[in-house]
Amino acid sequence: MVKRLKIVAVLLALLLSLAGCKGDGEKAVAPAPKPVAANGKEIKHPGEKIKIGFSMDTLLEERWLKDRDLFKKAVEGMGAECEVMAANGDDALQISQAETLISHGIDLLVVVPHNAEATAAIVNKAHQAGIKVIAYDRLVKNADLDLYISFDNEEVGELQAKEITKRVPKGRYVYIGGAITDNNAHLFKKGVFNVLQPLIDKGDIQIVYDQWSKDWTPANALINMREALKATHNRIDAVISANDATAGGVVQALKEQGLAGKIPVAGQDAELAAVQRIVQGTQTMTVYKPIKSLTIEAASLAVRMAKGEKIDTDKKVNNGKIEVPSVLLSPIAVDKSNIDSTVIADGYHSREDVYKK
Ligand code: GAL
Repeated sequence: MVKRLKIVAVLLALLLSLAGCKGDGEKAVAPAPKPVAANGKEIKHPGEKIKIGFSMDTLLEERWLKDRDLFKKAVEGMGAECEVMAANGDDALQISQAETLISHGIDLLVVVPHNAEATAAIVNKAHQAGIKVIAYDRLVKNADLDLYISFDNEEVGELQAKEITKRVPKGRYVYIGGAITDNNAHLFKKGVFNVLQPLIDKGDIQIVYDQWSKDWTPANALINMREALKATHNRIDAVISANDATAGGVVQALKEQGLAGKIPVAGQDAELAAVQRIVQGTQTMTVYKPIKSLTIEAASLAVRMAKGEKIDTDKKVNNGKIEVPSVLLSPIAVDKSNIDSTVIADGYHSREDVYKK
């Protein structure tokens, strides 16, 4: 008997809920749909936090871990939320991760594209959902991007070339480029050749090897540098490598030929291993980009934009489709003489780590 009553009770509750009534027979009130703004985006309830999505290419290089942590911290410091996803160099994964972030109700998307062209699809999807997009550190090409924030990446290349030509005004140069899919790699290279070309035209400098390194990996840079050494029978006077990860591959190849420390090498990113190489003398310089300033500026722009504020910038960068409103920060050349006053003074690396024996 009791069992039968229980079954009846369960069935009754089921029927009531199907009829949209709460257990007590009162009609359950479906949550009021959130008001929608002109752009189709739900308007946040007062007190509901702004949510920023951060779609990253990779966490392989040391710097991206800093970008992730410092950006998240800066966004949360502004009373907003931040959800991060990293695609490890996989374009299809980056696009589906962006779709996931959009479905999680983000108010604005910040993206570090793996592939400058392929990421245009992400901008289109976000705009269809009424979400603005900021390109972080790397430009998205051929898309209606809302804002671009980075360092002056052409200046990065110029700083590298100026430091190396000071030490090797004449000679045989190798250029180890970054990933051809990364718009920054093209800007770094353009900056380098802004400085080298006049010296090449004068016949002072000869480029004996010049190659991109797929996905910026040290392994691909190592292969390139071994090839350069073989092709030139080790007759090389200087190497400019697009970042410190690839410079690590370069120095390893030079070491194999007993040339490490004998040939000036330029890098970028002020990675700890690179700054240590500069102290040891196997790398000549790197370019320090204060990531903290980039993350604080980007977080501020993202949260303000998500709140609907119109952002004016004094710079614009053409991405092949539009003049993108842009913010470009200044990079800093670092060699043995100013490690203390730059990366250590900023707390980017500790003195103990840099001068560790
Ligand atoms: C570039 C970035 C560099 C470097 C590289 C590899 O876009 O500006 O700092 O790390 O990617 O991830």
